[in-house]
Amino acid sequence: MTQQKCPEVSADKFASIIGSEQAEPANIVIFGASGDLSKRKLLPALAHMHRWNLLGPHSRIIGAVREKWSLSQWKTYVHDQLLHYFPDAVLNPRSWMRISDKLELVVGDLSDPAMYEQLAKTLHSEDGRKNALFYLAIPPSWYERVAANLNKAGLADESEGFRRIVVEKPFGMDLDSAQSLNGSMQQYFSESQIYRIDHYLGKESVQNLMVFRFANSVLEPLWNRNYIDHVQISVSESLGIGYRAGYYETSGALRDMIQSHLLQVLALVAMEAPVSLDADDVRDEKLKVLRAIRRIRADEVDQVAVRAQYTAGRADGVDIPAYRNEKNVADDSITETFAAVKFHVDNWRWQDVPFLLRTGKALPERVSEICIRFKAPPHTLFCQQGERISNNELIFRLQPDEGMLLSMTAKQPGLATELRDIQLDARYGMDGVGLPDAYETLFHDVLLGEAGLFSRADEVVESWRVVEPIMQAWSEKKTIDTYPAGTCDVPGLDDLISGCEGGWRDLCSPPHEH
Ligand code: BG6
Repeated sequence: MTQQKCPEVSADKFASIIGSEQAEPANIVIFGASGDLSKRKLLPALAHMHRWNLLGPHSRIIGAVREKWSLSQWKTYVHDQLLHYFPDAVLNPRSWMRISDKLELVVGDLSDPAMYEQLAKTLHSEDGRKNALFYLAIPPSWYERVAANLNKAGLADESEGFRRIVVEKPFGMDLDSAQSLNGSMQQYFSESQIYRIDHYLGKESVQNLMVFRFANSVLEPLWNRNYIDHVQISVSESLGIGYRAGYYETSGALRDMIQSHLLQVLALVAMEAPVSLDADDVRDEKLKVLRAIRRIRADEVDQVAVRAQYTAGRADGVDIPAYRNEKNVADDSITETFAAVKFHVDNWRWQDVPFLLRTGKALPERVSEICIRFKAPPHTLFCQQGERISNNELIFRLQPDEGMLLSMTAKQPGLATELRDIQLDARYGMDGVGLPDAYETLFHDVLLGEAGLFSRADEVVESWRVVEPIMQAWSEKKTIDTYPAGTCDVPGLDDLISGCEGGWRDLCSPPHEH
């Protein structure tokens, strides 16, 4: 269970720390409001924003659901979900009343025009709240139809206030479907009204990457092929697939994680400084990186990409059944639950620097990090009883335990010249205040009309183009390698990193405790 812990700080202090601006009043319409994403992430994020006065006055949270609920049933539902996922929002009756007053409901079938007419009436019922954000927390096969229906009901028209549509990933299942979805969404909403979510971009630690790179001058001289041996981007999850097989069977780790989150992180690591922080300036630079990623030929996929599926085991203290025995997974499924790919970015800065991306489920621990591994010193003066000296590493710990860590070699105090690894360790906590959840940041940005943390149409298309040859080659295979849940024993994984100094980073113990 993910519970948001409410920080023990005043609203003023919170606002001064997170520097947040109150949004204009808006109708926040959640399609799929009775679904899993809504209860785990969206409702708690909105309740948290409400608590800190980040939602504009008189904003409303309008659930759009299929269930034939009354308004009071909807309120009870929201209350119960918040009690589970963000109890502080409802335990104080006054706080719950303030949230409850904002709740509205629209009931109907997504394909039924009557539902959109009802929604249009709800939006037009009061003055001063004509802005609307439509959040599509629904299966992707509905995106286009809902956008078309909204448009038909006049709800994409911005003459009375902003109208923004938020689309969850996956945005398409391959290059063609992503292009076609872009085309159809853009018939009804302009690109500036479309916010494609990649929740990794909303994570504090991911946003910090740009600040760290471009607000400090010491890194820039080192940030290139002259000093960096390779980059590792790892997202390791200890849970198995759980109840999500329906979606995951059509996706797999490459589509689910690498095409979106990991490639976005790669782009942030490799991009040039944008001319400004305007959304399009930042996205232009990320796009250049994605375009510079070397296209993988069909005959080299086996040398640069590895995939595998978990068998039964125990990860992080939990017994996990074999993927093929999970609910709704085919007995002969060859969907990958682990994927790793070696990319190259063909430009002046990054020539010959491998970017190794890996992600998987049912691995020993939940940890996401970026490791920038520097080259060894050109001449070895010191040697540690015949052992090689560790390369310097700069680690961005994305989660949990967000922070940065620089590992260096120092002298062991004493008469002999012995060396030891030391770590300059900067955790990323904020003075007793919990980090805002990614969804809170992203809601806030949509309401302010800031699109920098959302993927633009061309970025999404380019990311699909990057992974398409691997998807194609894997779709022709009839078998898949396996690894026991709770291990990283993926066949071929070590070969992928051969030639890079120092091998894979061990993700099994938190770096702050090394
Ligand atoms: C989602 C994927 O986008 O990201 C999930 O669909 C994955 O499969 C999740 O578990 C990971 O997100 P986080 O924030 O927990 O790292």
